[in-house]
Formats: sequence, structure tokens, C-alpha cells
Amino acid sequence: MIKLVNVSKTYKNGTEALKNINLEIYEGEFVAILGLSGAGKSTLLRTINQIIPVSSGNIFFKNVDHNTYKMYGDNPDKTIENLNSKGIDVKKEDLNLVDVDITKLKGRKMRIMRSHIGMIFQSFNIIKRMSVIQNVLSGRVAYNPTWRTILGIFPEKDKQIAYRALKKVDILEKTYSRANELSGGQMQRVAIARSLAQQANILLADEPVASLDPITTFEVMEYIKKVNVEDGITTIANLHHVDLALKYATRIVGVRDGKIVYDIEVNSKKGTDIIDDLEKVYGRPIGNQDYVGEE
Ligand SMILES: Nc1ncnc2c1ncn2[C@@H]1O[C@H](COP(=O)(O)OP(=O)(O)O)[C@@H](O)[C@H]1O
Ligand SMILES: [Mg+2]
Repeated sequence: MIKLVNVSKTYKNGTEALKNINLEIYEGEFVAILGLSGAGKSTLLRTINQIIPVSSGNIFFKNVDHNTYKMYGDNPDKTIENLNSKGIDVKKEDLNLVDVDITKLKGRKMRIMRSHIGMIFQSFNIIKRMSVIQNVLSGRVAYNPTWRTILGIFPEKDKQIAYRALKKVDILEKTYSRANELSGGQMQRVAIARSLAQQANILLADEPVASLDPITTFEVMEYIKKVNVEDGITTIANLHHVDLALKYATRIVGVRDGKIVYDIEVNSKKGTDIIDDLEKVYGRPIGNQDYVGEE
């Protein structure tokens, strides 16, 4: 679904944050990226939606081919939805999917690509002066003409999508609250709801629980897992707790010094053995600071 080929990123000051990364991520996976601070995790995550442009290399997304795209839409799920709404019964495997190099996209095509990728950050990237519903509806921007979104007018269909998303993260009662009245955990749930409203097929989460207390941490992780499993949203999360990675991820990718040094299916090995391996990724023993602890 996502394929990074020889991706490198050197910042203007000369820091080589990513060195020849090759990584393939499959549909529906929950990938935890682990590594020491400064290893390149955030840079890696942000190249996947090109908020940080790569210095070299390519990133391919499986997408509908150009002709189908011109006719029906810009993303496989949307294309299927359009075709089904016209009474044409198609499934994803019937579509002619091709590799699109997102590092080459510009302008509108770049915006469309990004509109299908949800993001949540440690620092709660929601707009605090807006209401919860406005934040979630902002995920519908790409689906509506600009004048509508500037005026804040969203069709009833979009509002229904937003309510459904808020219900999914059990925060419907906060629909009309201002976002700045929410707790950190609630803000992350709103961010998850916004990704749902976006009809994102990929969720990028950069240390989504790093600012939360242990109980809230597990709550928010449960919701991320829920949308991963129930809505099939491929999830890539930078985490710094090994117990969270083992509990929620299907795959762990270890990053050290801008390189991928570890890559394993969580189910393929005993948790304690994975932790042993991670000591090599971290270059130090795994200790208390690497666990959230008991639920
Ligand atoms: N905007 C930037 N300009 C220059 N160097 C940066 C920038 N962002 C990150 N870096 C450097 O790139 C390396 C990787 O950073 P980052 O991707 O944030 O790592 P992580 O998320 O694993 O902590 C670090 O050495 C960091 O200091
Ligand atoms: Mg980081």
C-alpha cells in the first residue's frame, strides 16, 4: 500500500535524518516505529504525507489508475463508493491499482493525497478555538468546494459523517464544546474522529500518547486500534513505550540513526524476545522508562 524506496532526508543544516530507507507497509497493518529520540521517527512519518519532502528516493502509494481516477475519483475507496452508488458492483480487487509516486505530486493532487491521510500528534493538532464538530468537519474540507468551507457551511451528509465519527470515539456529548475545554485524551479522540471524517485510509500518529497519563494512554490507544481494525485504517505510530507497541501493533519497525535496523511481525516472536532485540535498536537496556506499566 505504501512503499518507500531509497528514501533519504538531509535537512538544510546538513543533518542526515533518514538514510536510504526501504520500507513497505501493507493495507490494514498497525506499524509501531520505535527508536531513541533523534533516531528519525518523526521525519520518517512526515515524509509519508510529504509534509517533509524527501531529499531523494520515492514513495509509492497504490492508487487507482489515471483513467479510472479521471472518471470516478482519486482514491480507491471513493472510487468504489462512486461506482456502487451508480449501481455498479465492484470490489477493491476489481480495480486496476497502480503505483503513484507521491514525491512527484504537486498542488491539487498533493492536497487530495493528503486529504486521505489522518494525522495525530503528541501536541494535539486540533484547532482549540473551534468547536469539536468544526474540528471534525475540517476533515471534510477536501470533499467540498472552498467557498462552503470558508463559510463553515457543510452539507447534512457531512454532519452525519462527523456525528458518526464522534460516536465511534464515544465523545458525542462534546459535539458543541469548544476544543479548548477538552482534556488531552479527549482532544486525541477528536483528532481520531477527524481522521475518520476525512475517510482517511492511512493514520499517522506521532507520539500520540506521550503527553497523557497512563490510564488515558491506554484509552486513546484502544480507539486508535479500534479504527485500525473496524475501519481498516492502516496505522503507523511513533511510540516510545515498548509495551504499547507489543500490545497494539501488528509490526514493529526499529529506527536507529536514520536507518531501519529492525522489522518484525509482533505475532511471530515472543514479547520478551522482541524486547531483547529492541535493546540492540536502542543501544541500551530496556528499563522502566520504556513501559507505560499496568493498565
Ligand atoms: N527541521 C529540522 N532541521 C534540522 N534538523 C532536524 C529537523 N528536524 C529534525 N532534525 C534532526 O533530524 C534528526 C531526526 O529527528 P526526528 O525525526 O525528529 O527524530 P525522532 O522523532 O526519532 O526523535 C535529529 O538529529 C534531529 O535533530
Ligand atoms: Mg519525534
